[in-house]
Amino acid sequence: MPAGVGVLSRPAPLAPRVEGAPPLPSPEMQLLIFGGKGGVGKTTLACATALRLAAERPDREVLLVSTDPAPSVSVCLDQTVGPEPTRVCTGLAAMEIDAQTEFETLKRQYAAELERVLASVLPNLDLTFDRHVMERILDLSPPGLDEVMALSRAAELLAAGTYDLLVLDAAPTGHLVRLLEMPELIDRWLKVLFEVLLKYRNVLRLPDVSERLVRLSRNLKRVRALLADPRRAALYTVTIPTEMAYEETRDLLAACERLVSAPVVFINLTTPGSDCPLCCALRCRESRVEDKLASLVPRVHRALVYRCREPQGQERLRELGRAMYLPR
Ligand SMILES: Nc1ncnc2c1ncn2[C@@H]1O[C@H](COP(=O)(O)OP(=O)(O)OP(=O)(O)O)[C@@H](O)[C@H]1O
Ligand SMILES: [Mg+2]
Repeated sequence: MPAGVGVLSRPAPLAPRVEGAPPLPSPEMQLLIFGGKGGVGKTTLACATALRLAAERPDREVLLVSTDPAPSVSVCLDQTVGPEPTRVCTGLAAMEIDAQTEFETLKRQYAAELERVLASVLPNLDLTFDRHVMERILDLSPPGLDEVMALSRAAELLAAGTYDLLVLDAAPTGHLVRLLEMPELIDRWLKVLFEVLLKYRNVLRLPDVSERLVRLSRNLKRVRALLADPRRAALYTVTIPTEMAYEETRDLLAACERLVSAPVVFINLTTPGSDCPLCCALRCRESRVEDKLASLVPRVHRALVYRCREPQGQERLRELGRAMYLPR
C-alpha cells in the first residue's frame, strides 16, 4: 500500500500536527538534505521546510533543489519548476535539475572538442593508448557522476552568494549514500583525467571541457567542505513508523555517520490518536517502532509528523512547515 493511503475509515484530520518539533535550523545552515526511503514524504517535508524558512527569513534566499527525474517538486508545490532556479515566493526559488541530461551535454561537448583537436594534431603525434583512454574516460566515470554534477552546480550558486541555503530533496537512500560518497571518488577520477590532459597540454587543448571540469573539481571541494561541517550541512532523515522503514533508516544513519551530521529524524505519516479501535491498534504498533528508533539514536531529535489532509500546494505546505519547527 503506498505511503499516505490510509486503511482507516475515518478521514485524516485537516490540520497538520507535529509532536516534538525541532527548532528551526540555525541561520548558519547552508545545506539541508532531506533523505530517506522511497515514498516516505521527503519531497513534501523538503518543500514545507523551504517555505517555512523563506517566510521566517525574507532577507535571505533559499533554493529548493531536486534531482528527481520526475517533476515531484512541481507536483508538490503545484507550480511548474524548471531546470533553472524558478521563483516560488519571496525568499524562495526552486529548481529540478535533470542530472542525466546535464551529464549527456558534458559528454557530447567533450567528444566534439576531443575529435576536433585530435584531427588537427594527429598527423604529428602518436597517441595510440592515450587516445583510447581519452575517448573512453567519460564513459568510465564513476556511476552517479551525473547527480554529483547537479549537486555541484547547486553548490556553485551557493558559493556565488546568490543563495544562502540549499534545501535538497534527495533521491531515496541508496542513491543518497552514493551521492554523499561520490565527491571523493570523483575527485580521484578527475585527477586521472587532468593528468592525461596535462601530459599533452602543449598540443591538446580542450578549453571548454577543461574549464567545466576545473569548475566541477572546485565545486566538489566546496561540497566536501560543506558536508564535513555540521554547522553548515545536515541530513534531515524522513521515515515512517513501520518495521521496514525502521531498518532502512538504521542503515541510512549508519552509512551517513562519517559523511554528514544527521541531527533530526521526522517520523512522517504517523497515525493520529483517536477512539477508533483500528487507529489505536495501528498507533500501538507504530509506537513500538518509534521506541526502537529512540533506543537506536537517543541523541537524535525525533519528531512525529501526523498524517493530515494531503499536503499539496503552497498553502497546505506552509501550514505543515509552521507545525514542523519551533521558532528559534
Ligand atoms: N504528513 C502527511 N500527511 C498526509 N500525506 C502525506 C504526508 N506526508 C506526505 N504525504 C503524501 O505522501 C505521498 C508521498 O510523499 P512524497 O512524494 O513527499 O514522498 P517522497 O519520499 O518524496 O517519495 P519519492 O521517494 O517517490 O520521491 C504524497 O502523496 C504526499 O502528499
Ligand atoms: Mg520525492
